[in-house]
Amino acid sequence: MSKEQQTKRMTAPEFLARKGGEPLVCLTCYTAPMARLLDPHVDMLLVGDSLGMVVYGFDSTLPVTLDMMIAHGRAVVKHSKQTIVVVDMPFGSYQASPQAAFESSARVMAETGCAGVKLEGGVEMAETVAFLAQRGIPVMGHVGLTPQAVNALGGYRSRGREDAESAKINADAKAIAEAGAFSIVVEGVQETLARAMTAAVPVPIIGIGGSPACDGQVLVIDDMLGMFERVPKFVKRYTEVGKEIEKAAASYAKDVRARRFPGPEHCFVKKG
Ligand code: KIV
Repeated sequence: MSKEQQTKRMTAPEFLARKGGEPLVCLTCYTAPMARLLDPHVDMLLVGDSLGMVVYGFDSTLPVTLDMMIAHGRAVVKHSKQTIVVVDMPFGSYQASPQAAFESSARVMAETGCAGVKLEGGVEMAETVAFLAQRGIPVMGHVGLTPQAVNALGGYRSRGREDAESAKINADAKAIAEAGAFSIVVEGVQETLARAMTAAVPVPIIGIGGSPACDGQVLVIDDMLGMFERVPKFVKRYTEVGKEIEKAAASYAKDVRARRFPGPEHCFVKKG
């Protein structure tokens, strides 16, 4: 069945079953119009906490709140039909304990209607992932470059260059999969590590700055649309929407200043 014919929304077990098959296509998404546009073309819409940086202009993802994630998650679920929608758990909403993670995740699931949540971390989060998974919350993991740990990592540089760090990231992915995650994002790591991890871990590994060998790929939508001058090395810009917006704004400004807009066709004029 083609993506266009499919009407039923993909579930976490169906996503998991795609391990090793046709690559899974994932994009971040934060708003209703974007959800409508992307839904027919992708397998997963990820309401990433990257929205803190790309939508709200924060310097990192740390100030993002649960209420923000719920508001954007609800819009994306409501305006998509067939993709699985996963919502990121923001910093501080899940790290304290498995119970805290359950309370935050249950709110996200109940108030957005999403199919699962994503959280960052490896071995240290395995207990929490198991706690959620055993209580009906599908969990996507996130290892490698984990942006919520930017202060501890000392920046956004790629991970796994040294053997010890590479082995640690591999162990993180294995622990999260064993704990019951249905999929794992691996971000900003050496290509060889992403490849080895994809071969070794029994759940779909979704790369962002990973490897073409991963079970799927994800990008931040604003990055691939060309909304920013500077993007990480792992981003391919598929279009230049930012430049188009600037062009449109400049044309509009010229028209308004020259009284060319609104034209007669845009005005309500009583006929007869
Ligand atoms: O927040 C986000 O958008 C993400 C992706 C980069 C995977 O976690």
